[in-house]
Amino acid sequence: MRIIAVINQKGGVGKTVTAVNMGACLALHNRRVLIVDFDPQANSSLLLGRNTSLDEPSVYDVMAGNINPEEIIEETSTKNLFLMPSNLNLAEAEIDIVERPGREIILAEQLISSIDRGSVIAGFDYIIIDCSPSLSILTVNALMAAREIFIPMQMTYFALKGADHLINIVELVNEELEHPVSITGVIPTFFEKDPGDYEKVLEEVKELFGGAVFETVIHRSTAYDKAAAAQKTVFEIMPESDASWDYRNLTQEVIKMEQEEEGDRGEKKGFLSSLFKKTY
Ligand SMILES: Nc1ncnc2c1ncn2[C@@H]1O[C@H](COP(=O)(O)OP(=O)(O)O)[C@@H](O)[C@H]1O
Ligand SMILES: [Mg+2]
Repeated sequence: MRIIAVINQKGGVGKTVTAVNMGACLALHNRRVLIVDFDPQANSSLLLGRNTSLDEPSVYDVMAGNINPEEIIEETSTKNLFLMPSNLNLAEAEIDIVERPGREIILAEQLISSIDRGSVIAGFDYIIIDCSPSLSILTVNALMAAREIFIPMQMTYFALKGADHLINIVELVNEELEHPVSITGVIPTFFEKDPGDYEKVLEEVKELFGGAVFETVIHRSTAYDKAAAAQKTVFEIMPESDASWDYRNLTQEVIKMEQEEEGDRGEKKGFLSSLFKKTY
């Protein structure tokens, strides 16, 4: 099982579009995929066709300890693709949990105990956590639950600002919280026909992230907004668009890494269980 947090504290960089469309493409390749919508704005829930009502159980209830995660997982219109929905209540969780002991590992603990119970979550090949645009306690929870980090990023000098904060928080999780999550790669997004300073920015990004940049670039396309309006993935409404091909290429890169990840299987469970025993 690969657990991936899609993060960047900047909004509008393509986190949700990446989580949903990469997730859908993995599902089309017969992987069982769970998207955890971990943003109070609930954009991935909306993209996956859900109408996010405040009365329905969501990932907020998982964080509040009201419900087990496996109880709120829903099917989507894509086979093998499942959703743990969010809604605005999650903004409240952010405030509620700040004072709690073990506040950084609430999501991790919920997922691990669910896997230990042999729930449906144990059967997923991928869990993809779509994070909110912040470096909050929610983001730390996502990082503590994940083993890998994908960072969609517009390749402009402006976008580079703040990338060091992102790296700092990953180091904090690695060193202070002793959780071995690592950056698999930056995903260049909103690539323009006129690439402008792309090459120069790419060099800086590679330097900053130790070369961890995906080869696939995601071009700017109107297909994503059209898909959002239809509450569909790009594969459902425009399977032959460049947008679909970009995410197919990205997914191929992700699938190629599975071999390397294989060695880590099971280790996560062991690691986190020992972490819980040790620290909390
Ligand atoms: N490669 C792209 N080209 C054009 N529009 C995009 C692209 N990726 C995302 N978008 C659009 O930009 C907006 C923000 O994308 P989103 O994935 O929600 O960002 P984030 O989750 O980082 O805030 C959405 O309206 C989405 O449809
Ligand atoms: Mg988003």
